[in-house]
Amino acid sequence: MAFYSIAIDGPSGAGKSSMARTIAEKYGFIYVDTGAIYRTVGLAAHRRGISCSDEPAIAKLLPELKIEMKYDGSGEQRMYLDGEDVSSDIRLPEISICASDVSALPAVREFLLEMQRSMARTNNVIMDGRDIGTVVLPDADVKIFLTASSAARARRRLLQLMEKGINADFDKVLEEIEYRDNQDSSREVAPLRAADDAVLVDTSDIGIEETVALLSSIIEEKLKIGS
Ligand code: DC
Repeated sequence: MAFYSIAIDGPSGAGKSSMARTIAEKYGFIYVDTGAIYRTVGLAAHRRGISCSDEPAIAKLLPELKIEMKYDGSGEQRMYLDGEDVSSDIRLPEISICASDVSALPAVREFLLEMQRSMARTNNVIMDGRDIGTVVLPDADVKIFLTASSAARARRRLLQLMEKGINADFDKVLEEIEYRDNQDSSREVAPLRAADDAVLVDTSDIGIEETVALLSSIIEEKLKIGS
């Protein structure tokens, strides 16, 4: 039996994960957050005091790690590292940078490729990341490249942090976003870029509802399904 796959790529803070989560719920797909897998490798390196860009040390570490992705009763993806649920720890700001660093290493990308592909072989998936439409699922049924200006993304991130009661500075948030954009787009392996057959969606000036409606119409047209 063939399964549908939807790829959503784009820079950090463009709204990929909230969109993918909403769309997954709407159409009964599984949402695979691939950034969380890179974050788990970053956390493992960080905890062992290994520099996140030390390729030989990280390549040696990879086979020792037990990384698992599980879905809880409400369909939320949880990440486990050596049996421990690390879903919250991987969201720390220092781990964001570390995830971006380790994701530039070919050994890491190769190690995680099969884990991502196997999800799409056995489920209807909506997968978000940086190279889903270009490398992980080049034959995805729908490919969307979701983007927004770095200022718009920093404003949203700041709001999210404030909602969690975390005080942050706009310039610092913007700086972190631009650092990761630059690093994720300029690396040699699987850089962040839109697949040639991806539909480009810029969310700088549109809200969540409008973006969901736009993505739904793209998906329904490509998959010939209704909501
Ligand atoms: O989506 P995110 O911000 O949680 O991802 C964390 C880092 O992982 C991001 O800076 C780039 C990297 N990443 C990647 O290289 N390829 C993916 N498919 C997903 C994430």
